[in-house]
Amino acid sequence: MATETAIGLDQKTMDIIKATVPVLKEHGTAITTRFYQLMFKDHPELKNIFNQVNQRKGDQPKALANTVYAAAVHIENLEAILPVVKQISEKHRSLNIKPEHYPIVGKYLLMGIKDVLGDAATDDIMNAWAKAYGVIADVFISVEKEKYDEVEKNTGGWIDFRDFKIVKKVEESDVITSFYLVPADGKAFPTYEAGQYITVKAEIPGETYDHLRQYSLSCAPGEDYYRISVKREDATQDHPKGIVSSFLHHHLHEGSILPISAPSGDFYLAQNDERPLVLISGGVGLTPLMSMLETVVKDHPEREVIYIHATRSGKFHAMKDRVEQIASVNNNVTRFTVYDSPVEGDQYDREGHINQEWLSSILPTIDAAFYFCGPKGFMRAAYQHLKKLNVSDEDLHFEIFGPSEDITQ
Ligand SMILES: Cc1cc2nc3c(=O)[nH]c(=O)nc-3n(C[C@H](O)[C@H](O)[C@H](O)COP(=O)(O)OP(=O)(O)OC[C@H]3O[C@@H](n4cnc5c(N)ncnc54)[C@H](O)[C@@H]3O)c2cc1C
Ligand code: HEM
Repeated sequence: MATETAIGLDQKTMDIIKATVPVLKEHGTAITTRFYQLMFKDHPELKNIFNQVNQRKGDQPKALANTVYAAAVHIENLEAILPVVKQISEKHRSLNIKPEHYPIVGKYLLMGIKDVLGDAATDDIMNAWAKAYGVIADVFISVEKEKYDEVEKNTGGWIDFRDFKIVKKVEESDVITSFYLVPADGKAFPTYEAGQYITVKAEIPGETYDHLRQYSLSCAPGEDYYRISVKREDATQDHPKGIVSSFLHHHLHEGSILPISAPSGDFYLAQNDERPLVLISGGVGLTPLMSMLETVVKDHPEREVIYIHATRSGKFHAMKDRVEQIASVNNNVTRFTVYDSPVEGDQYDREGHINQEWLSSILPTIDAAFYFCGPKGFMRAAYQHLKKLNVSDEDLHFEIFGPSEDITQ
């Protein structure tokens, strides 16, 4: 007789799961593509939640199913996947993913597996995966419940989307504009950790579905507003304009209402570290780091800070004056500007890109906390350079402005 384990799965089920994970991974893209097709056909309302552009570009579709398979490998010891679940659940909470969504995803993921594997997916295999998905989903649901409870307990906290009013719109560079947001109901709203983000819900006239996007809060917590700073994604020869950034830049003004979710995210400044702080940003990746910079000079002015910002040229350099002002009144802050395409009149410290030699020439120590954010290529390069300088993994903190991806490879 099959014996049941603490998580309620019998040995036979677990053996089947472990034996079939490699097959599912091999057919990963086919299964996830089918899964999303089937799910959106029956549940078009989920297009209000999932980023349809990521779907089209194929960035996101793999992440969900791959995580289910990765979790399945650890089915006997789901504790091992808790750190990953906690990270994903920050995004889920920010998107307002609810327990009732899980059976829907489970149903269509199984249908995707069956459709792609055909007869090879026997009843035993399908039953085993149905059980395993249920167990994995329960882990997510319980971690997310804690997060919803936490956010609701915060002063001014809220679940789902809440209307905020844009009270100020400020152009920061040729492509980046800041939006200052206050609750439309005039009531309290919660503070946040420097580096966290919110999700905005863009309800665009003429569009069938809402579009959800994350934006980091770009100022220190403790102000009487939230501020986000958004890069306008213009159309190019190869791709259309960015849906939400264009909507924010062109159609929303002072007085417009924007529904947002409460601050979320696990990329934030650890305040209990007294070692030097190194902030490295590329392009619009400066937003969470500006929040960190503003926070550290306010709360720990004695901490040594090195802030490196890389962008194309002066025209694209947002918040330059603010950083200069901070550095001019705070001897512990040193800032470096790196331009890859400077024009006449630009003032900068380095032309080209950040590299290992240059970093080692300006960093006083590698025994520091490093936070970086920017385009994916920039992040990969920054990670490699810092690793080559022997910075340990636990001192490297980063945020990806898109579907999660392994930048360490
Ligand atoms: C945690 C987090 C924090 C973030 N913080 C910020 C922030 O502070 N500031 C900020 O500006 N952004 C931030 N982002 C990015 C932001 O969420 C959006 O992704 C960004 O604004 C683009 O959204 P969009 O709707 O304008 O573009 P989308 O319409 O989503 O398009 C994205 C890009 O893909 C291109 N594209 C569209 N269709 C295709 C196609 N078929 N093939 C190829 N390419 C295509 C578009 O031209 C565009 O460049 C953050 C993201 C995350 C995850
Ligand atoms: C056990 C089940 C699930 C797993 C393992 C899972 C896993 C993931 C992963 C790995 C990501 C990427 C995170 C990132 O980019 O930072 C993600 C994002 C996301 N998940 Fe889940 N997820 C699950 C269930 C669900 C459910 C039930 C829903 C809602 C119906 C959902 C909706 C989303 C959305 C909307 C995103 C953001 C990507 C986008 O905007 O398209 N997920 N999930």
